[in-house]
Amino acid sequence: TTPTITLNSGTSIPALGLGVWQATNDETEKAVRYAIDEAGYRHVDTAAAYGNEEGVGRALAASSVPREDLFVTTKLWNSDQGYDSALTAFDESLRKLGTDYVDLYLIHWPLQNDERLLRTWDAFEKISESGRAKAVGVCNFEPRHLGLLVDRGGMLPAVDQVELHPRLAQKEIRHVAGDHGITVESWSPLGGTSNSGWGRDSKPNTLLTDETLTDIGAAYGKSAAQVMIRWHLQNGLVVIPKSVHEERIAQNIDVFDFELSDDDLQRIDALDTGERVGAHPNDLNIGAPD
Ligand code: A2P
Repeated sequence: TTPTITLNSGTSIPALGLGVWQATNDETEKAVRYAIDEAGYRHVDTAAAYGNEEGVGRALAASSVPREDLFVTTKLWNSDQGYDSALTAFDESLRKLGTDYVDLYLIHWPLQNDERLLRTWDAFEKISESGRAKAVGVCNFEPRHLGLLVDRGGMLPAVDQVELHPRLAQKEIRHVAGDHGITVESWSPLGGTSNSGWGRDSKPNTLLTDETLTDIGAAYGKSAAQVMIRWHLQNGLVVIPKSVHEERIAQNIDVFDFELSDDDLQRIDALDTGERVGAHPNDLNIGAPD
């Protein structure tokens, strides 16, 4: 079974989950069913903006694993930021997922508009109090955005999900989050999409073939992907590698029979160049209201 991390909400999150960005509803349904029923995953990470919450919902409904044994995350899209609009969007996500609660509800991106962001967080506090999200949090928040919520007083996010992989180790965010008991989750944990040219903000993956990672993997009989997943786990991060291929889904959870040495962890730390594969939080305001 996957180890868990206790969140500041008091609930616990499986440290490894399945990501489904860029997968269609049908691909998502198939991948999630395989992940849960065959490969042993207990955690799925989707978002309203991925357009595949219904695929996740169909997989949850068909699975033999009870809902309470699964951890489901979804995210509020930018265009729904604001108090009333966030509450309405949350209802819509629950409907698509076919569930009456999520384990984690996240703000997908910070906005340039701090006032609106704070009103969204008011709605998240209400959703959390209702019990319909067992925990709430944020994505792509820089220390400045976390500071806004700290200064607001009241509830703090349980997690900050940010782009994080060996080339973008996010030391400062991890430090600030740690000071406030906020768990950091890694998106694009393997360095992002393996297809070149997908999407405006994506670059082709060059980490999966990085020699340092494949060399380290060879010593353990593991792939570069498995080495990276261990690096996240051994750094106390929640990791959500994405794949729609069964053998990769199975491979990515087959990481609990080996441990990276301190020396190998340091070799991987040395790959941190600060290079992103996705959008910078300060640049992404797509669909945001004023
Ligand atoms: P696919 O779904 O076609 O398998 P991320 O860093 O965002 O998790 O992205 C990982 C990317 O690498 C995805 O595009 C995924 O594509 C691919 N991938 C996932 N797991 C593996 C693996 N074990 N080996 C090689 N490629 C992988």
